[in-house]
Amino acid sequence: MTLYEAVFKRRSVRRYKKEPLPPEFFKNLRKFELGLQPLNSAIPYSVEIIDALSQETKVRGLFRVKAPYYLVFFSEPGEEAEKNAGYLMEQLVLYLTEKGVGTCYQGLAKLPSIPEPDGLKPLMVLAFGYAEGELYRESFKARRLSLKELCVFREPVTDETRLMMQAARLAPSAMNGQPWRFMVYQNRIHVFAKKERLPFSRFTAFDIGIVLCHISLAAEEVWRDISFERREQIAVKEFKNNQYFLSIIFI
Ligand SMILES: Cc1cc2nc3c(=O)[nH]c(=O)nc-3n(C[C@H](O)[C@H](O)[C@H](O)COP(=O)(O)O)c2cc1C
Repeated sequence: MTLYEAVFKRRSVRRYKKEPLPPEFFKNLRKFELGLQPLNSAIPYSVEIIDALSQETKVRGLFRVKAPYYLVFFSEPGEEAEKNAGYLMEQLVLYLTEKGVGTCYQGLAKLPSIPEPDGLKPLMVLAFGYAEGELYRESFKARRLSLKELCVFREPVTDETRLMMQAARLAPSAMNGQPWRFMVYQNRIHVFAKKERLPFSRFTAFDIGIVLCHISLAAEEVWRDISFERREQIAVKEFKNNQYFLSIIFI
């Protein structure tokens, strides 16, 4: 299975076996982590693993999932870093899925006091381990809005662009809020998010990072080069229900 294929198979896993993962797995995870592609390479980050099987852990919080391991993603606070974090963490999620390991984001997890590398703050926690029950799900079973609800197609688009939007549609989001909206042209996609109130809005930038990861993987799959840019002429406009994030340009 590739990362792209994992997009169509992944689901959140909320029940785990109390079983350790082999040491080799953690070595390979660290290797994969070194090759992660950031959205913004200027933003520092660090990934730490909490082994909840061999140490008494105090990961708590609302909607917390009990898992043998937790991955903690540290970075700077702020919208850019959160978007970058979603983009990077989803690569890790899909890698773990591909390796037969279940995952579930833990947006409201409360961490024990663990050392914060280089003054970075924990931005997100991911529960992971061997799944008790189903690890994969057929994509048609995912509860998601339709492409019609998510996208405005301003021009007729190719099958490749539609595939990219299908991959976007399956992205996970906090409380399955699916905040992203897309304005799709032949050579570009403008990415917006629904304006939301707290607590939903807290994860919007992170969710946008996740969806951009899915779009990037699908673009790679169909041999299409893309770049991300913020168009100031759109950014300055006031939209009633949506917030503009960035545009995906087909090179
Ligand atoms: C930023 C973020 C935070 C999340 N926080 C939690 C959480 O605290 N507890 C939980 O059980 N699931 C959490 N989830 C998982 C979502 O509920 C899940 O991805 C969504 O319902 C879609 O379901 P799926 O992942 O099975 O496709 C979170 C997901 C994201 C992206």
